[in-house]
Amino acid sequence: MFRNRLAGITATTLLLLIALVVAGCSSRWQLMANQPRTNPLDPSSVFSDGASAQPPQPSTVPRGYLQDDVEFETGKTAQGTPVTTFPFPITLTDLQRGQERYDIYCALCHGRTGNGAGIIVARGFSGPPTFHTDRLRNAPVGHFFDVITNGYGDMPDYQAKIPPRDRWLIIAYVRALQFSENAPISAVPTAIRAQLESSTGPVLVSTPTPGSAP
Ligand code: HEC
Repeated sequence: MFRNRLAGITATTLLLLIALVVAGCSSRWQLMANQPRTNPLDPSSVFSDGASAQPPQPSTVPRGYLQDDVEFETGKTAQGTPVTTFPFPITLTDLQRGQERYDIYCALCHGRTGNGAGIIVARGFSGPPTFHTDRLRNAPVGHFFDVITNGYGDMPDYQAKIPPRDRWLIIAYVRALQFSENAPISAVPTAIRAQLESSTGPVLVSTPTPGSAP
């Protein structure tokens, strides 16, 4: 009996305490919920231009956005000459993305095989050169990067549309196109060589899954 009464009193005290604590959160002494702040477009007397929202300091770079890899970003060495190697290793998955990006951004003018006979050219736009010449086969990868980044003659630049990494992947695919048009028959896997030799039209080869041997 006495025990039950004690338990009753303790429970009431506890409830009262919780009520007090909860009320305390929104009381006028609890100032954290109501401290000085500015709303969007509020004026301010702190800054000389009278605005509470200040623009970022000039040359502010968000964390993770520092573009300090000159060769990756420009395709040129610090001395300004076009780089001759890719700035990172190219995987099969990279090549497949390069193909997809090439077909989206370049094929309309350069053609799916890079022969310069895209659909836009058929409609009257200046014809780009084929990629399958010694000059462009021997041109350093940095030259291609520069052409995509800054444009070339009548070709517009793709700086704003294609991020640097994708530009490199497109170039890797252009290299694959160049090789495919200029490779010896011995470079063709034996499994499809016979098919190629007996065929008069294009040979359809299923795309290998990433990671499997070519
Ligand atoms: C709107 C059509 C068009 C598109 C799209 C286009 N190009 Fe071109 N490209 C041209 C033309 C035209 C030229 C030739 C310019 C000249 O010689 O005046 C050219 C030239 C080039 C050259 C040769 C530069 C040289 O040294 O002769 C390369 C390489 C090239 N383009 C790559 C690309 C790649 C890669 C893409 C896709 C990211 C692309 N182009 C998208 C029209 C286009």
